[in-house]
Amino acid sequence: MNSPSPSPWLPTLTLLILSLPIIFFFTSHLLPPPPVSLPDELDDLTLFRRASDPTRLPKSRLGSTNSKPTIAFLFLTNTHLHFAPLWQRFFSPNYPDLYNVYVHADPTVKPYINPPGGIFLKTRFIPAKQTRRGTALLIAAARRLIATAILDDPENQFFALVSQHCIPLHSFQFVYDKLFEVDSHQLAELRLLEYKSFIEIIDKDDNLWDRYTARGDNVMVPEVKFESFRVGSQFFTLTRRHALMVVKERRLWKKFRLPCLRPQSCYLEEHYFSTFLAGEDPKGWAGYTLTRVNWTDSVNGHPHTYYLSELSPELIYNLRKSSFAQPYMFARKFSPDCLKPLMDMADSVIFRD
Ligand SMILES: *[C@@H]1O[C@H](CO)[C@@H](O)[C@H](O)[C@H]1NC(C)=O
Repeated sequence: MNSPSPSPWLPTLTLLILSLPIIFFFTSHLLPPPPVSLPDELDDLTLFRRASDPTRLPKSRLGSTNSKPTIAFLFLTNTHLHFAPLWQRFFSPNYPDLYNVYVHADPTVKPYINPPGGIFLKTRFIPAKQTRRGTALLIAAARRLIATAILDDPENQFFALVSQHCIPLHSFQFVYDKLFEVDSHQLAELRLLEYKSFIEIIDKDDNLWDRYTARGDNVMVPEVKFESFRVGSQFFTLTRRHALMVVKERRLWKKFRLPCLRPQSCYLEEHYFSTFLAGEDPKGWAGYTLTRVNWTDSVNGHPHTYYLSELSPELIYNLRKSSFAQPYMFARKFSPDCLKPLMDMADSVIFRD
């Protein structure tokens, strides 16, 4: 009888087992990307719940004789605040009770982003998490800012989201008066005074289908139908009513937070807020933003960045001009080297309305 010969499969099997890590190494990038990590969503949820629970909100001082409504400025940044000295002049010490400033600074950035001092000393650097463009992390950060500002001061009636690349185009007094301007029609007709949010919301755009399907086909339904998918400005000024609605929101967030299969089609910060408000409150927003941005010759979804050589008083005057009821009050994006010339024309141009 033949003695049993070693199985011819053994070497093949050994080879296969040994090569598994190599096969995995070369194929792992073919797998769909892992879900964007949204760590500790629990504490965000707790924050959002607290901010949307009327029984837990501090009592409003509105109606008492001494206090006036405030504007909450929400800085969303992943670098130092290049224009802090300009903003400091904007937040004139004459009106300390008319604004609050909150900063969400990406804590993973090294060296750490420190409060720049001055007026920003009274600023709240809120508990922050990593932010990354084109991911749900950016939306989460914006909602974190909004929720914190809601809880912090019941007088916060407008919530203006800005970035480190934004500059003011007018004085604080001008911005304040315009935002809280009472519409003469409303007064004449004794209608209930209701402010509107300043957010751009667009329902027709060549990129919409591509952006809508960035997470895969049929993923967004039934919560978000294509017909109700919108594109709009990432930087906006919301009323308190809308701010509260945004932190309460769960339905759309469930879909928008899903990872994108095509990152180049995934600027969800331009879709989440506009889609939500368009569906939720079709009449409560102006349909344009107060933050001027220049999309001419945009590269990789980035708008035009203004550099030192382009700066002049005429640029500021041009950027203010709008075809809407309100002029532009803020503008982006400006490179850090613009600080000096901006400071030089702060009083004579920017804050002269
Ligand atoms: C917008 O950016 C383009 C360059 O991308 C520039 O030529 C143009 O002057 C800018 N428009 C304004 C109003 O600044």
